[in-house]
This record gives sequence, structure tokens and C-alpha cells, in this order.
Amino acid sequence: MKDSSNFFWKRLVEQAQGLLSVSTNRVSNAANLSALLYQELDDISWVGFYFLQDDMLLLGPFQGKPACVSIEVGKGVCGTAAVSGESIRLADVDTFDGHIACDADARSEVVVPLFKRGDLLGVLDVDSASADRFNEEDEAGLKALSQVYLSSID
Ligand code: SME
Repeated sequence: MKDSSNFFWKRLVEQAQGLLSVSTNRVSNAANLSALLYQELDDISWVGFYFLQDDMLLLGPFQGKPACVSIEVGKGVCGTAAVSGESIRLADVDTFDGHIACDADARSEVVVPLFKRGDLLGVLDVDSASADRFNEEDEAGLKALSQVYLSSID
């Protein structure tokens, strides 16, 4: 990351606003936001969406290696963030009891729950093969991008 972190995230938010303005479709915009994040973030092993369906989080658009298809709400980092409504940032995934290792290489992770008009839509999940990859600004930046995404869809 060459820019200072704040500038980096501000620029990424602006890029995402442009990219997601051409569609209101949640799958199309999740696909493009995943691609943008995978392209722009250093040292990321996986980034993508899980969408809520019948009390399960089902794999949506993502970039990275093939991943777990479904996660029970309340299970894993994704399911826990979905239930709590709060984002989770892990410097070391092994410290989280119940972490689901879709990719054995993942060492640190951020999950942001997505709520549209008060209803749980799903989560945005970002993994890195490096420990302690994400700082507070990264978490805030991912939350800001999640809001851009949520505002862009129907
Ligand atoms: N680690 C997540 C599972 C999803 S993968 O990281 C893509 C979890 O514990 O919920």
C-alpha cells in the first residue's frame, strides 16, 4: 500500500461508488466489489460474500480459492458476525474458537455483517495468509465499502 491508509481507503470508496453505480443488482455488485478489493488490497488470500438464505449463509461472489459453500448462522467468524451485527477483526484466526478454516493458509480475517433496511443480508469476508494483516483503519475502510455496496443495491 503506497498511499497513507486513510487516503487509500478514501480513494477505494470513491472507486467503488463509481463501479457500483451502474447496477442495483446485489450479485453483480458483490462480484465487482470482490474483484476490486482483490485487485487493490495487498496480501489478501480471499475476499467475498456470503448471503443469508433460510438461516444459512451461502457462498456468493468471491475472489480466491474455492471456499465453504454454506455456514450456519451463529457458526464460525461469519456466522458469529451475522448474529452479533458487529464486525469481527482477527489478528490470528486460531484465537477464535470455532473459526472455520476454508483455506488452511488463512491467518488473519475481517468479517463485516451486511444489513439492508434492518434485515441481515449476509457478510463480507476478507482473509489474509499473513498474521495481523488488518488494522483498525482497514476494518473501518471495509465497513465504509460495505455501506457503499448496501446503498448501491435494491
Ligand atoms: N473463516 C470463515 C469461513 C469462510 S472462509 O474464510 C472463506 C469463518 O470462520 O466463518
